[in-house]
Amino acid sequence: MANAKKVWGGRFQKPTAKSVEKFTASIHYDKRLYQYDIEGSIAHAAMLANQGIIAQEEGAKIIAALESILKDMNQGKIAFSTSDEDIHMTIERELISRTGETGGKLHTARSRNDQIALDVKLFLRSEVDKIISALAGLQSQLVKLAKNEISTIMPGYTHMQKAQPVLLSHYLLAFWEMFARDIERMRDCKNRFNVLPLGAAALAGTSLPIDRRQTAKKLNFPRISKNSMDTVADRDFIAEFIFASSLIMMHLSRFCEDLILWSSDEFGFVEISDAYTTGSSIMPQKKNPDVAELIRGKSARVYGDLFAIMTLLKGLPMTYNRDLQEDKEPLFDAVDTVKDCLTIFTEMIRETKFNSPRMYVAAQGGFSTATDVAEYLVRKGLPFRKAHEIVGKIVAYCLKNKKSLDQLSLKDYQKFYKGFSADIKENIKLEKAVNSRNHIGGTSTTAVKGRIKEIEKNSGGK
Ligand code: ARG
Repeated sequence: MANAKKVWGGRFQKPTAKSVEKFTASIHYDKRLYQYDIEGSIAHAAMLANQGIIAQEEGAKIIAALESILKDMNQGKIAFSTSDEDIHMTIERELISRTGETGGKLHTARSRNDQIALDVKLFLRSEVDKIISALAGLQSQLVKLAKNEISTIMPGYTHMQKAQPVLLSHYLLAFWEMFARDIERMRDCKNRFNVLPLGAAALAGTSLPIDRRQTAKKLNFPRISKNSMDTVADRDFIAEFIFASSLIMMHLSRFCEDLILWSSDEFGFVEISDAYTTGSSIMPQKKNPDVAELIRGKSARVYGDLFAIMTLLKGLPMTYNRDLQEDKEPLFDAVDTVKDCLTIFTEMIRETKFNSPRMYVAAQGGFSTATDVAEYLVRKGLPFRKAHEIVGKIVAYCLKNKKSLDQLSLKDYQKFYKGFSADIKENIKLEKAVNSRNHIGGTSTTAVKGRIKEIEKNSGGK
C-alpha cells in the first residue's frame, strides 16, 4: 500500500514525492518542541482514560511510553527524520512502535491543529518567563550602576545637541523604565495567550466526550479557549510576542547606539571592557564596540520576524492553513535573539566604565544652563517668553565674544537685564542646575535617590 508508513496514508494511492517530503517537513526546527508535545500528550492521554474514551490500562501504557520517549529524546537517542514531517509525527511513530495498536489511540479527539497551538503556547510560556527574568536582571544591574554613579553629571541631549545637565543615574534609570514596560508587555502577552487550545481538534471540536477542564488543570492553564475555530486559526499571540520582543530590541539598540557614540574618541564618555570589544585585523590601535553594534544590528532581525508573522497571517482564510507552519522559525529566532542580546548586554554594561570627569566637562559646554538663567528670571517675576528672549541675547553675545555663561560678570548680565543679582553665578553651576529639578521624575539627586528607593522597595516586595 502506498504511503502505508504515513499515519494519514489511508486514502493515498501514490507515495509522497521525496521533494515534497523535504519541502513540507518542519521537523528540523519543530523538534525543539518535543518536551512540550510530550507534556501535552500525557495530559491528553490521562483525560482520555479518565473519560473512558480509552481504557485506563491503555492510558497508563501510552503515558509510560511517552515518558520513556521523553527520556530518550533528552539523551539524544532518537534520530529525527524528514520522513516524519514534524515533531508530532515523530513522537506518534515512536509511540506506536513501542506500544503497537494502543499507541494509535492517543490521537483520539485531537488534531495536529490544536496540538501545535498547544505546543507553541507551552514553549512560549516558559520562554516568556526566561525573558522576564533576563529583563529583571538587566534592571537590577542598572540600579547598581545608578547608585555607583549618583554624583556623576553628564550633558543631556535633545536633537543630539547638548541640552541640559542631568545625572548619569537619571539616564541609566530612563532605560530601567523602558525595560519595566517591556516586562509588563511580556506578562500581559503571556496572560492573554495562557488559554488551553486542546479540544478544538481540527477546527470544529469532537463528538467524543472530552473534558477540557481536566486537561487545562493538568497543563496549568487558567482558562479554556471558547471557540474551536478561533483556537486553531489564532496566532495573535505570536505576533504580540514578537512585537514586545521588537520593542525590547529597540530599547537595547538605542542604549547601544549611545554606548557606541560615547566610546568614540570624540566623546570619550565610556570605556567598554576589552572583554566586550574586538580589534581590527589591519589597524592595531582599534578597539571596536562590536557587541553593541551587533545588538543594534540584530534588532533588524527581530523586526524582520515581526513582518514575517504579520504578512503570514494577513490573507489566511479561516481556519488552520499549512502556511501557519511558517510561524515557528520567526518565533524561535525572536526568542533566541532577544534572550542572547539581553544576556550579553547585561554582561557588557556591568563591565563598562564611565568617565565622569569627561562627562562633567562636556556638560559645562553648549550653554547647558541657559534654561536655568531663564528660570532664574522667571523667579524674578518675568514672563518666561521675555526671559527666553533675554537669555537668547546673552547666548548670542557669548558666542560672538567666545565666552561661556560662567565667564560673564554680574555687570555683563546686568547689561541684558537690570534685575540680575550676584546669585546668578550660583544658579548656573551644574550641581545647582541638576539639583534644582527636584520633583517627581526630575533629575535632582534627591529625586533620583528617591526613585531608586522606590524601585528597591517594590522589587523587594515581590
Ligand atoms: N507542522 C504543522 C505546523 O507547524 C503542524 C500542524 C499540521 N496540521 C496539518 N493539518 N497539516 O503547523
